[in-house]
Amino acid sequence: MAAAAAAAGVAWVTWGDPSSVSAIEPSHVAGAHTGKVYLVGAGPGAADLLTLRAARLLATADVVVSDALIGPEILAGVREDCLVITMGKRGGDARATKQTDINTALVEQAQQGRTVVRLKGGDPLLFGRVAEEMRALDAAGVAYEIVPGITSPFAAAAEVGIPLTHKTLSTTLVLTTGHDPSLLDFTALARMDTVAIVMATRTLEAIVDGLVEGGKAPSTPVCIVRNTTLPNGAIYTGTLDRVVADTERLKLSPAVLIVGEVAALAQGGGCTPDRLSAEL
Ligand SMILES: C[S@@+](CC[C@H](N)C(=O)[O-])C[C@H]1O[C@@H](n2cnc3c(N)ncnc32)[C@H](O)[C@@H]1O
Repeated sequence: MAAAAAAAGVAWVTWGDPSSVSAIEPSHVAGAHTGKVYLVGAGPGAADLLTLRAARLLATADVVVSDALIGPEILAGVREDCLVITMGKRGGDARATKQTDINTALVEQAQQGRTVVRLKGGDPLLFGRVAEEMRALDAAGVAYEIVPGITSPFAAAAEVGIPLTHKTLSTTLVLTTGHDPSLLDFTALARMDTVAIVMATRTLEAIVDGLVEGGKAPSTPVCIVRNTTLPNGAIYTGTLDRVVADTERLKLSPAVLIVGEVAALAQGGGCTPDRLSAEL
């Protein structure tokens, strides 16, 4: 099979038993003198939603470089002598750590021969600037591996019972970020059945306006799930034309915004702003 692919000019690289982290030898492997960095998804918050692989790596790491949103229950699984550095960023926080400082910390710790877990919220490949960390590690010749995690939009949908795809209501799902609405193609997004948006609370009004101007019906159901899987979670359900006014006094972040007909299926939905306020 591999030979046939090679003959046809197709690169087809295989590797060993994927159940063993150390057996996976991706192309980005550096010299043996350095340690290794694991870019690990911590999942949405609940400690029991860590993957087994993430938990095993946390239990053995010399150093953990953690995002700011990661809770103490997850970090409780580290070794007693593990160095835990919190270097994450919160959206819009001017005091946030610079990405270059995070990159430098990963490289420097690995170059001292340490096993480093870079712990990122949700899945490390979604909306988390992991590409910059990978490029910095590549440039320094540091080996790394990526360990997926449960992304917050999937956890939020699961928590409130929203089927992100649905036989009649939703055949298309888009995951995007509201961090900078000027980058979004709202006409395209408005044509999608379901749009799940992270970092959408600060820019909620611009997102709603953009979607409606792009062609989404103002009556389209929306659901906001704050702090999904965590004890201080909360849910709001409403419609595009109401959500901004309904939530303007509420502390929504960190939250996932789900827009589309499936959002009306949220259980625990029908939560009024009053109930959400009461939970805050
Ligand atoms: C920088 S993005 C990282 C996303 C992450 N990589 C993921 O896969 O979920 C951070 C945003 O994810 C969302 N988020 C992360 N954890 C969340 C949670 N427990 N509940 C709701 N939203 C969450 C929020 O929109 C937050 O502002």
